[in-house]
Amino acid sequence: MTAAASHSPWRLSVAPMLDWSDRHCRYLHRLLSRRALLYTEMVTTGALLHGDVARHLRFNVEEHPVALQLGGSEPVDLARAARLGQDWGYDEINLNCGCPSERVQRGAFGACLMREPNLVADGVRAMRDAVDIPVTVKHRIGIDQEESYAFVRDFVGTVAEAGCGVFIVHARNAWLKGLSPKENRDIPPLRYGVVARLKQDFPHLTIAINGGIRDSATVAEQLARVDGVMVGREAYHNPWWLTRWDAQFFGAAPFTLTHQEVEAQMVAYMQREAAAHGTHWYAIARHMLGLRHGLPGARHWRQTWSNHRLKDFSAQEVSQIANTRPDAS
Ligand SMILES: Cc1cc2nc3c(=O)[nH]c(=O)nc-3n(C[C@H](O)[C@H](O)[C@H](O)COP(=O)(O)O)c2cc1C
Repeated sequence: MTAAASHSPWRLSVAPMLDWSDRHCRYLHRLLSRRALLYTEMVTTGALLHGDVARHLRFNVEEHPVALQLGGSEPVDLARAARLGQDWGYDEINLNCGCPSERVQRGAFGACLMREPNLVADGVRAMRDAVDIPVTVKHRIGIDQEESYAFVRDFVGTVAEAGCGVFIVHARNAWLKGLSPKENRDIPPLRYGVVARLKQDFPHLTIAINGGIRDSATVAEQLARVDGVMVGREAYHNPWWLTRWDAQFFGAAPFTLTHQEVEAQMVAYMQREAAAHGTHWYAIARHMLGLRHGLPGARHWRQTWSNHRLKDFSAQEVSQIANTRPDAS
C-alpha cells in the first residue's frame, strides 16, 4: 500500500455549508487541494424527492471525492434520497444531525435528531440498505444544557450499531432555543476533549473533529488524537490555506500553481459554466473572494470581483481589471 492510500478519506475535509459549499465553491477548493474530502451544502429529502433533482445534485466530475449531505429524518425518504445521491455519483452520504436552525427543527431533523438516536439508527440502516457507498453522520456533542458525556456517547453507540462507521463531531452543543444558527457556531463553548474521548471509547470507529479549527498546527494536533479534521469557515474565507494541505497532511507533492494560474483556471471554468448552464460569473466569483487574503492588492482584487457594476463584462475582462492595480497607471 502506498503512503497516500493509507490515509483515511476523512483525514481532512471541507465542511457542508449552506449557500457556501455549492459546486462552484467545491470546484475552487478541488483546484487547491486534490485530497481533501468536500461536502455539499445540506440538501433536504423533501427538496430532492419533490424538487428539481439536477439543480440540487449536479456537480463537476473534478470534485471527487465529494460527499452529499442530507437533511431529513424519515427512513424511507432518506433511503430514496441516498439512492439518488449514489446514482448521481457521490462518494458518500452524510446525515445532518447538527443543524440548529428553527426551520430545520420544524422539519424534525438536524441537531434535534440527537434526542432520537433510534430514529437516526433507523435512517442509517435504511440508507445503508439502499446504497453501497459509506453512510456517515455529522452531529454535535450535546443539545441545549445537556452536557453529559453519556448523552453523546450513547448517541454514537446507538447509531454505530446500525452500521455507521464514521462520525464527524462539531465539538460544541447546539442550543435549540434563543440562538441563531450563526450564534450556534460561535457561542456554545468548544469542548475538543469530548471528541477525543469518543475516539478512546470507540477506537474502531472513524471520528473526525470539527469546530473552530483555523491553522495547520491545530490540524496536526488533532490528528494525533482523532482520525480526521473538518474545516468550515476558515477554508471558505482563506482558501489558499488548502494549497498546503496535500503536502502537509497527505505526504503529497507541494502545490505549484500561482494565484494567477488558479484565477485563470477559474475564469476558464466560468466561461464553460456560462456556455453550458448560463451561469453568471458572479455566482462563481463570490466563492473566491478570499483567494488573495493577506496579499498586497487583495482589496482591489476582491472589490473588482464583487463589483455589481461589472456584471455585463466577461469574466476574462473582470480578471484583467482585478489584476490591474489602480495605482499602476
Ligand atoms: C454559512 C454556513 C452554512 C452552514 N451550513 C451547514 C450545513 O448545511 N450542514 C451542516 O452540517 N453544517 C453547516 N454549517 C456548519 C459547518 O459545517 C461547521 O460545522 C461549522 O461552521 C463549524 O466549523 P468551523 O468552525 O470550521 O466553521 C454551516 C456553517 C456556515 C458558516
